[in-house]
Amino acid sequence: MKNLKKQDPKIYNAIQAEIKRQEEGLELIPSEIAASPAVIEALGSVMTNKYSEGYPRKRYYGGQANADTIEEIAQERAKKLFGVPHVNVQPYSGSPANLAVYVATCQPGDTVLGQSLTDGGHLTHGWKASATSMFYKTIQYHVKSDGYLDLVEIEKLAKKHKPKLIWVGATAYVREFPFKELSRIADSVGAYLAADIAHIAGLVIAGAHKSPATYAHIITTTTHKTLRGPRGGMIMVTKKGLKKDPELAKKIDQAIFPRLQGGPHDHQTAAVAVALGEALKPEFKKYAFQVVKNAKALAKKLMQRGVKLVSNGTDNHMMLIDCGKGRGLFLQEALEEAGITLNKNTIPSDPSSPYYPSGVRLGVPFITVRKMKEKEMEKVGDFIADVLEEIKDFKFPAQKEDLKKEMVTFRKFIGKNKKIKEVHAEVKKLCAKFPLYKK
Ligand SMILES: Cc1ncc(COP(=O)(O)O)c(C=O)c1O
Repeated sequence: MKNLKKQDPKIYNAIQAEIKRQEEGLELIPSEIAASPAVIEALGSVMTNKYSEGYPRKRYYGGQANADTIEEIAQERAKKLFGVPHVNVQPYSGSPANLAVYVATCQPGDTVLGQSLTDGGHLTHGWKASATSMFYKTIQYHVKSDGYLDLVEIEKLAKKHKPKLIWVGATAYVREFPFKELSRIADSVGAYLAADIAHIAGLVIAGAHKSPATYAHIITTTTHKTLRGPRGGMIMVTKKGLKKDPELAKKIDQAIFPRLQGGPHDHQTAAVAVALGEALKPEFKKYAFQVVKNAKALAKKLMQRGVKLVSNGTDNHMMLIDCGKGRGLFLQEALEEAGITLNKNTIPSDPSSPYYPSGVRLGVPFITVRKMKEKEMEKVGDFIADVLEEIKDFKFPAQKEDLKKEMVTFRKFIGKNKKIKEVHAEVKKLCAKFPLYKK
C-alpha cells in the first residue's frame, strides 16, 4: 500500500490499525471472515473503474469484453456450486438482493411471511423497521422455546394470510433450516419460497448443511460470510422456480437492473468470481466441515462451563449465548476488552429489547480460516466463560434511567479487571500462533 501510505496517511494508518486488531484478536462475529488475499486483490483492482449497466453481451456501455468475461465466469461457477439453472451476481449486497426478490414476485401491498427479527430473522424478511414492511404486508413467524422453528405456527399463518412470498433463512438461527417442510407449506398456499442462505452458503456448497436447491423457488445469499468472498449478494432461481414461473429468471434480472440498481460493481464481481473459484476446490469442503466441527466443540465447552446456549447447541457455524435480561451489551463490551469481538443479539422471546438484548451471537468462520481447530475452541470457550464469570454481578437496571450510570461503573470495572487483562494476554498469545496477515 505504498501509494496510499504516501498520499493519505490517515486512512493508511486506520487500515494498518485494523490489520493489527484482526491479527491480535479473536473475531467471532458469525457474519465475518477473512477473505483470501486473491479475493482482496481482485476487489482492489482496476475493475472498479468500469461501468457495465446491463448483463453480459447486453450492455448499455462500450468496452465490456473483460467485464463480460468476469461476470460470465462468476455466473458459471455459482450455477455449478449451487446446482441452479440461473444466477444473478449483480446485487450490491444481501439486502438489495432480498428487495429484488420482493420486486420480482410481489406487487406493493401483497402479503409476505418471514422469520421475526427478534427470533433470528433478517430485517429484510419483513421486520417493522425495514422498508419491506412499508411496501408489503409483512407477517412474522417465530421459533419455539427449544430454539427450533415453529412449523405449526408457520403453517397456520400461511393458511390464514395466504402470502405471495415466504422467506426461510435467518441471521441468528443455530439449527438446520427445514427447507422441505417450508416447501410443503409454501406449495400448499401457492406461495413462492425464497431461501436466504446468507449465513450458511459456504456450508451448503460443501454439503455441511442441507441445500434448499430442490425445495425453494429462489435462493439469495451474501457473498461474504461463510462463502468467504467480498461483500456482495447473489440471487439464484432454481429448477423448481422456473417450473412455477418460466419468467422468474427474467423477472429477477429486471428487478436488479433496471428496477433497483444501476451499474454492477465489476471489481466486486471479479472478487466474487475468485471466491467461487476457491469454493470449487477440495480445501473449501474441508474448511466448511471444520467450521461446523469447531462450532460444535465451542458450544460443548461453553455448556460444560455452565454457559446457557439458546437451543442447547448448534448445527451450523454460530451460537447464541443467553446472558440474562438485557445483559448482551455487558458481555459484548467485556469480551472486547479481552480482545474478543462478537455482537449483542436478541434471543427468542427476549425479555428485553433489540438495542439492549439478552444475548450475544458468536461464530467460528473467521477463526477457522486462521486454522484453529477443536483444541483451540476449548481455549476460546474458557476465555468467554471466564469473562462472563467476572461480570456476573452486573445486571441490567430495573429503571432505564439508571443505565448510563451503571455503564460508567461497568466500563471502569472491565477496564481495570485483572482476570480480563489475563484473558486478553492469552488471546494475543493464541492469535500469534495462528497468523492471519503476518506470515
Ligand atoms: C440472513 C441474512 N440476509 C441478508 C443479510 C443482508 O446482507 P447485507 O448486510 O450484505 O445487506 C444478512 C446480513 O447480515 C443476513 O444475515
